[in-house]
Amino acid sequence: MKNYIPAIEAAIEKYIPSGNYQEQHLLDSVRYSLNLKGKRVRPSLTLAFAELCGGSAEAAMPFAIGVEMVHTYSLIHDDLPCMDDDDFRRGEPANHKVYGEATALLAGDALQSIAYATMLSEEAIRSVGGERAARAARVLAEKSGVLGMVGGQEIDLSLEHREGDIDLVRLMEEKKTANLIEAACMMGCIAAGADDEKIKAAERYAHGIGLAFQIVDDILDVTSTAEELGKPIGSDADNEKNTFMSLLGLDRCRELVRELTDEALSALDIFDGDTADLKDFAVQLANRKK
Ligand code: IPE
Ligand code: IPE
Ligand code: MG
Ligand code: MG
Ligand code: MG
Repeated sequence: MKNYIPAIEAAIEKYIPSGNYQEQHLLDSVRYSLNLKGKRVRPSLTLAFAELCGGSAEAAMPFAIGVEMVHTYSLIHDDLPCMDDDDFRRGEPANHKVYGEATALLAGDALQSIAYATMLSEEAIRSVGGERAARAARVLAEKSGVLGMVGGQEIDLSLEHREGDIDLVRLMEEKKTANLIEAACMMGCIAAGADDEKIKAAERYAHGIGLAFQIVDDILDVTSTAEELGKPIGSDADNEKNTFMSLLGLDRCRELVRELTDEALSALDIFDGDTADLKDFAVQLANRKK
């Protein structure tokens, strides 16, 4: 896929308040996690779908940044001692190891509100219109909220130290990971003014690659190395989590990743534009090593 990462990283900096504030420690903590080398999968998808639907990446940028901020907040909180208790993230010490637990908690809170301030900024409203900006922000709120990503995280924690069944684990993984990827793709379409059929198709594509993405994450937690991943391995087993790997094993997980990727590819059929890059991207994510 086209390399959107330099433009995304330049835009991130623009939306973090700069200047001399009393809250410098908190702002440093926010900037620390945002600036670490994430793969930027979600914002890249937002921009790719905006362009596929005839819009510009520039106009969709506030929504790309919004989803990356919400994702980054979810990672900071996910690593806290009360959640997965992990000390490394994106190749560096986790936010709470550098800034302390309380500031890490607040950095996540702060990122969430900066995300919405960005998506509903004057600039965003000027470039896509108030109605589209509001609809995109609502999609992100729903997909990341109590019945979406946050709900998935709650189910994840509730399944520690006990036997879960595959249907519940699937629901948990759809919520905690696929939902945010769905929001990323849908927001690109919405920013570009696409119709409901296209927004639905983007959601289906994202559901396939998103669930596959979490299954690959579960696989890599067992088969990779901390150096390659930039985060600890074996975290799921240490926390006695239920994952696709713990329930189904490697071969079945690989098969499922292939099936879900095929479902994602077929969802792209309704678009008139060139979907080759999004197809390649789905396959690359399925085969990723980090
Ligand atoms: C990690 O997401 C958390 C999951 C949902 C699996 P990524 O693998 O996209 O993490 P970064 O953004 O590249 O660090
Ligand atoms: C990630 O699940 C889900 C969210 C952060 C919302 P994991 O707990 O498996 O993610 P990693 O492996 O720590 O990145
Ligand atoms: Mg977790
Ligand atoms: Mg984790
Ligand atoms: Mg994981």
